[in-house]
Amino acid sequence: MSIRSIIIGTGSCVPKRVVTNKEMESLVDTSDEWIRTRTGILQRHISNDRETNSYLATQSARKALDMASVLPQDLDLIIVGTMTPDMPMPSVACLVQNELGAKKAAAFDLYAACTSFLYALSVADKFIRFAPDMKVLVIGSEVLSRVINWKDRNTCVLFGDGAGAAVITGTKEDRGILSTHLHADGSLGELLILKGLDVDLPPGHSTLEKGQQYIQMQGREVFKHAVKAMETAAREALEANKWNEDDVDHLFSHQANVRIINFLGERLRLSQEKIFINVHKYGNTSAASIPICLDEANRTGILIPGHRILMVAFGGGFTWGSVAMCW
Ligand code: UT7
Repeated sequence: MSIRSIIIGTGSCVPKRVVTNKEMESLVDTSDEWIRTRTGILQRHISNDRETNSYLATQSARKALDMASVLPQDLDLIIVGTMTPDMPMPSVACLVQNELGAKKAAAFDLYAACTSFLYALSVADKFIRFAPDMKVLVIGSEVLSRVINWKDRNTCVLFGDGAGAAVITGTKEDRGILSTHLHADGSLGELLILKGLDVDLPPGHSTLEKGQQYIQMQGREVFKHAVKAMETAAREALEANKWNEDDVDHLFSHQANVRIINFLGERLRLSQEKIFINVHKYGNTSAASIPICLDEANRTGILIPGHRILMVAFGGGFTWGSVAMCW
């Protein structure tokens, strides 16, 4: 009997402050209409000084642990997917471990940009297949507002802050994570880049002048690669599990742009109700986007045991991948 990893609890947390597209109009030369039609985003949540990455991550973790009825001291491992840690060291995972009092848990961060949660889930899955009793906390958490140039309309309207978490353990039941496929192509890294955290800290003049401490993106190019890569990763998952497109009950795609999500849904011939979308509420929260979707879907009761879930992400690096699971 094979061992599979199952999600036994989910949680999420976003900062209190909502910034609408109207507010963005007062910051840069943009319009609610442009943002809505080009991205599907209506608003985003932006953190204050106290709502750090580790704070949002810890809050989401507490909710996931609560749902899973797992005590922090019973956790064996904490993995945080992020590219906006509170600081380079200690890791967000160690800060969360301390906040939770998860004393026996190993903890580390994982950097795969917007694909971080799927990378982390895949790593957790590998641990659990060898040690099914393990309890692993997987978190995607970001405060992208801190690495955004609020004067650059090409990027500042797109991103938001937030965190999502899942508690994973092993089962002998015929459900859980069925396949994971991860990919990267470092040759295209320049198209979506954040040079900020270089060894030259605090940033010298040249770094600041070039705006290297901010996310820089060639949006149209990234768009093209994102749709192609996510479709490929989705098809890989379908093939690995001998699923037809009709077999998918829910698509949780990285929430960067509603046009990308719908394009992917169309390519996979999925009906609209199978495609989970919340980018209008949160913008692109990078590593947090899929776990926030998962938690919202879980808490609204649309995930039924036996449902087939396809998760697909794409991000800087480039990185991309898919995870297929049976709920
Ligand atoms: O999370 C990781 C993965 N990220 C993504 O997948 C993001 C992928 N890219 C996208 O979602 C889209 O490319 C964007 C939303 C970033 C941009 O949409 P687009 O339809 O590709 O627009 P564009 O970059 O081709 O720009 C079209 C025009 C330009 O003006 P000109 O050169 O045609 O005169 C931009 O300067 O829109 C202009 N523009 C804006 N106008 C108003 C760019 N940003 C804005 C803005 N408000 N905020």
